[in-house]
Amino acid sequence: MTQPRKRTVILISGRGSNMTALIEAADDSAFPAEIVGVISDKAEAGGLQLAAAKGIATRVVSRGDFPDKAAHDAAIDAAIAEFDAEIVCLAGYMRLLTTGLVEKWQGRMINIHPALLPSLKGLDTHRRALETGLRIHGCTVHFVTTAMDEGPIIAQSAVPVLVADDEQALSARVLKAEHALYPMALRLVAEGKARMEGGRTVFEDFEAPGHNGLITSPGPSNDPVDLEALARFTP
Ligand code: GAR
Repeated sequence: MTQPRKRTVILISGRGSNMTALIEAADDSAFPAEIVGVISDKAEAGGLQLAAAKGIATRVVSRGDFPDKAAHDAAIDAAIAEFDAEIVCLAGYMRLLTTGLVEKWQGRMINIHPALLPSLKGLDTHRRALETGLRIHGCTVHFVTTAMDEGPIIAQSAVPVLVADDEQALSARVLKAEHALYPMALRLVAEGKARMEGGRTVFEDFEAPGHNGLITSPGPSNDPVDLEALARFTP
């Protein structure tokens, strides 16, 4: 018997390109998660219009409408509850959530970060990758825990840093990898094939071809990383 699709809410603060990748993946009725709502902490977030255009319910829970972070997060929590969500995806949600909310959703809340964690936590990851001279950069989907950008890793995608890269070129290459990685990671969580246990990600029933916890841009692969192909790859 097929399992019911997991009701999933996406939290955004901005343009919503990862949100769009998740919504489009879930357009397929065979995808194990269904996007039931999008919540933004900013009324001007471009992603709100994109979500509405795709027929997804949206809510704005503006920071400025609440006296403090605890009250704001209580309203976010209530909005998530209204959607009767089972999974929460942070997709460019640019505010740390309070401990209580994170703990309530532990193991059921995931985030995408534009770097290969545990390197380059925080902001401006592409600029810092270039400044550090990294030759390999990428993105990570992880379970959310109370420490910023530190939860157990579900999947990562590596992309090359090319000699001619500037911040814009590098961020575009990573973003393309994000759009492939996030739906794959959500699928694993929604199917129960990636679970958070004892502070780690435990993988189960792992027979899907072409995936080994890591994909390399531009697509899923179990093959060794083909650096020449990666070097030819442009977003
Ligand atoms: C994405 O690159 C995402 O990884 C990053 O914000 C961007 C949002 O873009 N998230 C973080 O930096 C969180 N630490 P999007 O709104 O187009 O998906």
